[in-house]
Amino acid sequence: MSKKIFSGVQPTGNLHLGNYLGAIKNFVNLQKDEKNNCIYCVVDLHAITVKQDPKTLKKNIRETTAAFLASGLDPKKSIIFNQSMVPSHSEGAWLLGCIARMGWLNRMTQFKEKAGKDKEKASVGLYIYPILMASDILLYDATHVPVGEDQKQHLELTRDIAQKFNSDFNCPGFLIPPEPLIQENFSRIMSLKDGTKKMSKSDPSDQSRINMSDEKDQIINKIKKAKTDSAELPESDENLNKRPELINLYGIFSSLQNQSLNSTINEFKGKNFSDFKNKLAEVLVEKICPISNEINKLLKDKKYIDEVLASGSVLAEKIARKKVEDIKQKIGF
Ligand code: TYM
Repeated sequence: MSKKIFSGVQPTGNLHLGNYLGAIKNFVNLQKDEKNNCIYCVVDLHAITVKQDPKTLKKNIRETTAAFLASGLDPKKSIIFNQSMVPSHSEGAWLLGCIARMGWLNRMTQFKEKAGKDKEKASVGLYIYPILMASDILLYDATHVPVGEDQKQHLELTRDIAQKFNSDFNCPGFLIPPEPLIQENFSRIMSLKDGTKKMSKSDPSDQSRINMSDEKDQIINKIKKAKTDSAELPESDENLNKRPELINLYGIFSSLQNQSLNSTINEFKGKNFSDFKNKLAEVLVEKICPISNEINKLLKDKKYIDEVLASGSVLAEKIARKKVEDIKQKIGF
């Protein structure tokens, strides 16, 4: 069956292994099936829900685009664009914001995490961010959305908005409730310093993550210093969930090697931690360094990156505009 795929990544710098294994690697796999219609967006309007320095934002938009391209996304096969160049997303967000309920937004755990203790000081944009995300998805009639585990709740909200709109305006099937495509295993890559915390761009410690721009020595060093426990490498998956750091490193290895957790357990049983860490660092260097080299190469040609975004934005706006007009018509404008 052909799928309409939509997904986005925020250009907030420090694109990391979690973004790659949780999302971008999957974007590339979906693009490989010619029956799929793929649209990938650098969600720069989402980025400004927290304060951004204008020059850094511009740099990060190009860097995220370069990471898409370097990972294997091809502008001839997928639409690649940035959100701020397609005004229909913001207009759609207003229209859908009048459908979403306060109670739904109040349940969003990511807002609570990001706003922290002082909710009064968070931007209104951060609060209504999931509505813009719903607009991103619904304007393209996306059927499937590849994301990491942390975005699941936002997708449920998108489905609720679609269903309420269809019911309020008596137009069944008009807005399509999308299916999340979350990898069954390893959909949540954790910090290298604390296996109970998500690997994140905003962690103040650079040692907590492998960045897509890290060089060989940095990767080797970070894996060497990654937190582990003192028990031996496991013989089976029994009790593995009590060892969050180990299961995370095993998950990263398995995901990079496209193999099951059990294969990884078998590969390393009876060996030392240092054997495993050396092999993990080797595989990471092998997979990540070519991407980071390509990112740096692409970033030297800003004109090319800007052209990819500009032509992708024209294609995206055409599709999104039509849907916004249809939505407005249903509403009564
Ligand atoms: P963002 O920019 O925080 O993250 C981009 C993608 O990376 C995934 N991810 C992870 N996956 C596994 N382990 C991790 N530690 C990890 N950290 C991040 C995220 O789940 C995501 O898939 N709101 C979204 C962007 C967005 C979007 C959309 C996504 C805006 N509009 C429409 C899909 C469809 C976000 O902030 O992702």
